[in-house]
Amino acid sequence: MDAREMKIKAAAAALEHVENGMRLGIGTGSTAEEFVRLLAERVADGLSVVGVPTSERTARLCLELGVPLKSLDELPELDLTIDGADEVDGRLRLIKGGGGALLREKIVAAASSRMIVIADETKVVETLGAFKLPIEVNPFGMVATRIAIERVAARLGLSGAIEVRRSGDGNYMTDGGHYILDASFGRIPDADALAITLNAIPGVVEHGLFINMASIAIIAGPAGARTLT
Ligand code: 5RP
Repeated sequence: MDAREMKIKAAAAALEHVENGMRLGIGTGSTAEEFVRLLAERVADGLSVVGVPTSERTARLCLELGVPLKSLDELPELDLTIDGADEVDGRLRLIKGGGGALLREKIVAAASSRMIVIADETKVVETLGAFKLPIEVNPFGMVATRIAIERVAARLGLSGAIEVRRSGDGNYMTDGGHYILDASFGRIPDADALAITLNAIPGVVEHGLFINMASIAIIAGPAGARTLT
């Protein structure tokens, strides 16, 4: 089974949790896009759901495939969010933001009664941190914010390069008009403490540590899909 087939398998298993009439948060990334494709087939067959997309990219795909959408302001309470992840540990803590949508993803997940993570086996880790931690920052004072992140990280025993994410000739810009710093901390022994500490830095808009947000994770491997709870 190749990587795409595993993503489709996880997405298909998540689709089984979707019921008629649900208000759905719809994630961002290649795995979430497989979910959108399967969801669109069900919608074409008569399933009635309304989605709130976590990025402009996801919104475009949903509109193209006929998945009905509303904004989070129109639909501020959601039944279920289905989204991918860059890493997931045994306590369902996540690193997200590889696709640059972490802020909207976190806002949408927080507005949902449940969040189902869909991923392939390569995303499961014992300790978070092999994937660079995305940190969304306000462009104003970005260098000062980076220095503040380095200082608080050092107090938690973390070090490593913190690089501005680039796109083409310039800095990558999120849907919210912010920049992303990708932090190569390596193993993060206390992700809970790091999450709280990062949130206290004024220039940090949001970070990619999702703690206590996922209800279950559906993990697809060559032998099929399993559920982490
Ligand atoms: C986007 C995300 C994605 O969910 C994450 O990067 C996983 O993407 P993919 O399914 O393409 O591996 O957090 O901000």
